[in-house]
Amino acid sequence: MKIAVLGGDGIGPEVTAQSVKALRAVSANSGPQFEMAEALIGDAAYDKFGDPLPASTLEMAGKADAILFGAAGTYESDLRPAESRGGHGLLRLRKHLDLYANFRPCFAFPELIGASTLKREAIEGVDLVVLRELTGDIYFGTPRGVSRDADGQRVGINTMRYTEGEIRRVLHAGFKAARMRRRKLCSVDKANVLETSQLWREVAIEVSRDYPDVELKHEYVDAMAMHLIRRPRDFDVIVTGNIFGDILSDAAAMLTGSIGMLPSASLGEGGRGLYEPVHGSAPDITGKDMANPLASILSTAMMLRHSGGMEAEAQLVERAVRQVLADGYRTGDIMEAGATRLGCDAMGDAVATAILKLKG
Ligand code: IPM
Ligand code: MG
Repeated sequence: MKIAVLGGDGIGPEVTAQSVKALRAVSANSGPQFEMAEALIGDAAYDKFGDPLPASTLEMAGKADAILFGAAGTYESDLRPAESRGGHGLLRLRKHLDLYANFRPCFAFPELIGASTLKREAIEGVDLVVLRELTGDIYFGTPRGVSRDADGQRVGINTMRYTEGEIRRVLHAGFKAARMRRRKLCSVDKANVLETSQLWREVAIEVSRDYPDVELKHEYVDAMAMHLIRRPRDFDVIVTGNIFGDILSDAAAMLTGSIGMLPSASLGEGGRGLYEPVHGSAPDITGKDMANPLASILSTAMMLRHSGGMEAEAQLVERAVRQVLADGYRTGDIMEAGATRLGCDAMGDAVATAILKLKG
């Protein structure tokens, strides 16, 4: 399996390095072999090549079976034009590879219930997936930009735009995912205000006719923000557009205890995918060996499952993560009284050791 390792910015390279350790442990003692190559993306690539997604990185990613991604963008580049913004490199990569279905599974680890700011009764047993459309919406719609109006005032413009084809394919992905789980799909929109959302809802209803065995419900995005916190157990698969999914998935992360625990897989047609933790580059803790690498390591498990067809190895990595949590190891973001606090690097070592032990 050929893997492009794109650590990116901030804590991205720190957490990705721990995933590489996990993969080496999976390979040890005649396990599957991985061909890994690193390249720059994000602000790091812009600083060196003047482009947050250099042609060489794009070419390498295009040839790989899977991309292991860290994070892109820092506060420094936030106010620059899109072409020179680190995060834009990631957006272009997703778009270029047409990775339109972004799965963000949210599972309440029993060991971490106490680490969440939410009450135990609310989050115990949570097991849901946010399926975020990833290549359309206000992220890519045109016109966009800052210009001047007739009075010379600056105006910022972005365009929320979805074609029915874009909506239909991610809805199909949602129904299929629900079929493999508890057969409940909740489509999230803002159909009481936005035409884009009215189209989204109409298409959702049309697609649902192909899946009579799956229950389809609709929620407005504002109400959904509340339901996620109040009664998250009621949800199985949540499908929504790019911007709503970006926001809701950060909220959903808190159900797991920390955003440092939430993995993701971005898939298109075919087996190739991009795997990344849902958290960002976290400039405030960069270089301090404090980041939680478990979201990246759990993303690696998703990579083994979806792009590698290695279900047993995926489960091995997931079991190793459960094992280190059960052994009482925690990074700062999920720290609790009585636990042993580890840095990013030591947490990566702990998971790699657990993988080796579980292999026997
Ligand atoms: C995410 C991130 C990205 C996004 C940023 C870094 C461009 O927030 O993957 O959720 O908005 O998609
Ligand atoms: Mg986000």
